[in-house]
Amino acid sequence: MLFRPRRLRSNANIRALVQENILTVNDFIYPLFIEEGTNICTEISSMPGIFRYSLDKISKELDEVVQLGIKAVLLFGIPKKKDDIGSETWNDEGIIQQAIRFIKKNYPQLYVITDVCFCEYTAHGHCGVLHHHDVDNDSTLTNTQKQVISHAKAGADMVAPSGMMDGVVGSIREALDNNGFDHVPVMGYSAKYASAFYGPFRDAADSTPEFGDRRTYQMDPANRREALKEVLLDVEEGVDIVMVKPALSYLDIISDIRQNTDLPVAAYNVSGEYSMIKAAAQKGWIDGEKVMYESLLSMKRAGADIIITYFAKEMAKLLK
Ligand code: PBG
Repeated sequence: MLFRPRRLRSNANIRALVQENILTVNDFIYPLFIEEGTNICTEISSMPGIFRYSLDKISKELDEVVQLGIKAVLLFGIPKKKDDIGSETWNDEGIIQQAIRFIKKNYPQLYVITDVCFCEYTAHGHCGVLHHHDVDNDSTLTNTQKQVISHAKAGADMVAPSGMMDGVVGSIREALDNNGFDHVPVMGYSAKYASAFYGPFRDAADSTPEFGDRRTYQMDPANRREALKEVLLDVEEGVDIVMVKPALSYLDIISDIRQNTDLPVAAYNVSGEYSMIKAAAQKGWIDGEKVMYESLLSMKRAGADIIITYFAKEMAKLLK
């Protein structure tokens, strides 16, 4: 037989030589849930191994992150005070601002990215200012500018707007540039779908909408071409890194975007993707470690440069 693909699979050495994609700890961003208050270290019931921490309890977690060689964290804040517009997001003494200062001071080797949104900070749980039961795009943009300036002043290395408001990247770029933060990059949640895979995160971050859903701002899971349009708009507005979210059910989108932009592409391996693997592994129905590895590798193969994942610590241990 002329062609026998199995020749190149016959042992581990030759398989390693022809392996096309590889995961490394450099690929990962680790999300952290930081709650205002003291003495908090609460495991999220639907996300085994993932905790909400108050700042006085977070050092052990950060020590481990650094020791494993993880280089970047993505911060989500859980504030005590919520209101209709999420004004706590631009409080210079807010939980995220305190967290940024704490991490930059005590773990200067870590790259700190902030999630820029309002849903954890609004009483109604939507991602901005409400007008007639829907999020008002442009007044939300004004508040987003206040929020990113406050994050940048606290020392954030990068900001990542996740609310899917039109024009958000451009308005953030303008706010940062006009306030002396032209060195701070923006990672856009460019193609973010209205997904049921966010369920466990909303428990974790206390951000479930009080009424309705997010389909007037997040994308329809049925749409593929639209993702490219969203990405190209972000590129025009000066985005530095584009993101696809969720990851596993959206590998086609990652692949499309990889082929249509030279910017780094990030994939967000979201909470529901994490929980499904954990639950099945706990039941003994799958090998959790192998399925974790295979899923993360599939994101790289599809074209992601960066993977935001709750598995970062576990995967880093496996790669050591
Ligand atoms: C905030 C935000 C969400 C996630 C990240 N940022 C939730 C949402 O849009 O409802 C989801 C992350 C995850 O599921 O792991 N807008």
